[in-house]
Amino acid sequence: MQDQPLFAPYRMGALDLPNRIVMAPLTRMRADSQSHAPSLLQAEYYAQRASAGLIIAEATAISADGFGWADTPGLWTEEQVRGWSRVTDAVHKAGGRILAQLWHTGAISHPELRDGVQPLSASDVNPGQVSVTPSGRKPTVTPRPLTKEEIRSTVQDYARAARNALAAGFDGVQILANYLYLIAQFLNSTTNLRRDEYGGGIDNRARLLLEIVEAVLGQVDAGRVGVKISPMHETNAFAANQETLPVTEYAIERLNQYDLSHLLLMGNTTDFTGTPLEQLRDDGMFQHFRPLFKNTLIANVKMDRGRGNRLIKAGLADLIAFGRPYIANPDLVERFAAGRPVAEIDWETVYASGARGYSDYPTWQQAESNKLEASVSER
Ligand SMILES: Cc1cc2nc3c(=O)[nH]c(=O)nc-3n(C[C@H](O)[C@H](O)[C@H](O)COP(=O)(O)O)c2cc1C
Repeated sequence: MQDQPLFAPYRMGALDLPNRIVMAPLTRMRADSQSHAPSLLQAEYYAQRASAGLIIAEATAISADGFGWADTPGLWTEEQVRGWSRVTDAVHKAGGRILAQLWHTGAISHPELRDGVQPLSASDVNPGQVSVTPSGRKPTVTPRPLTKEEIRSTVQDYARAARNALAAGFDGVQILANYLYLIAQFLNSTTNLRRDEYGGGIDNRARLLLEIVEAVLGQVDAGRVGVKISPMHETNAFAANQETLPVTEYAIERLNQYDLSHLLLMGNTTDFTGTPLEQLRDDGMFQHFRPLFKNTLIANVKMDRGRGNRLIKAGLADLIAFGRPYIANPDLVERFAAGRPVAEIDWETVYASGARGYSDYPTWQQAESNKLEASVSER
């Protein structure tokens, strides 16, 4: 089985990975709701998954202004850094490697998460999405555009969060630049109507991302910094338009100049049929972007063992990230190595609290011995 490409060791930037299996970042809402510090439960959960070649920890707010999803963690206070130190220690003791994912939610935040204050974004465009507040899911509101001074301090908040990530023992950082959040709100021509140097043409809309990358590189070596980015087709303001692909191509080509450790590229999560992204369906995403990015490419979305092995073998990806499969399979690596089936997710407990459906998923071996015990006690 170890002739599977997924099991070939790999050097990603400054990190030696024992295999090509990456745990994708997964928000699970188990951080303290007041301090936004990660809990001991989170240390246990991540340590259980330490056989992954690399773990990318859940999206983590860079600042109070960037915070925008109930019960998620941050990286701007000492208490949060201490909480994360326990997580990184536990992962390292278990033999793993873990990156922090830096997050500013922008317009996806909500006044309920910000003491009644409007969230911040590129422009005053309601993205028409959902905010996850302490009292449940709410429609997003119209955000307030960041001033240029606030953009400068936001870039510095990324730098501080990157510094804090190293202080907390992370092996590096990943900048979350896609999906619906602040950087994507700047990249997207529907949500960015600015008339200054951060809006208008593609180069201006990508300026915030590149300034953030440069500020983070002031704190962390390039061999430990990556970006998660991809063109997406979502609802309302995030429906793909004629600029969605060109702005992503431009950003990825510009990212090459920094010699970053990796790019985490998501395939399509929605149906691209009839959209300007149609050609990027399925493997089309990786076929299109592999030639554009010179360093490590991590392919993600709806991967399984067979597809992962195939994409690496075809030269379309260096590493494969698994998100949902990691929820119910702490031993995903061992299951792939032995050709065992993967366990199903209990969706009720994905965004919940406590250990149930979080750190209590058994390994394949534990599940087998549980079954055996149950059948013995039935007799
Ligand atoms: C419960 C859940 C939480 C997620 N949280 C994050 C997150 O915090 N940051 C992020 O970049 N992506 C997040 N994602 C997206 C995953 O990282 C991944 O890109 C997506 O699930 C597709 O991979 P998969 O098909 O292997 O699940 C989340 C996905 C799920 C299902």
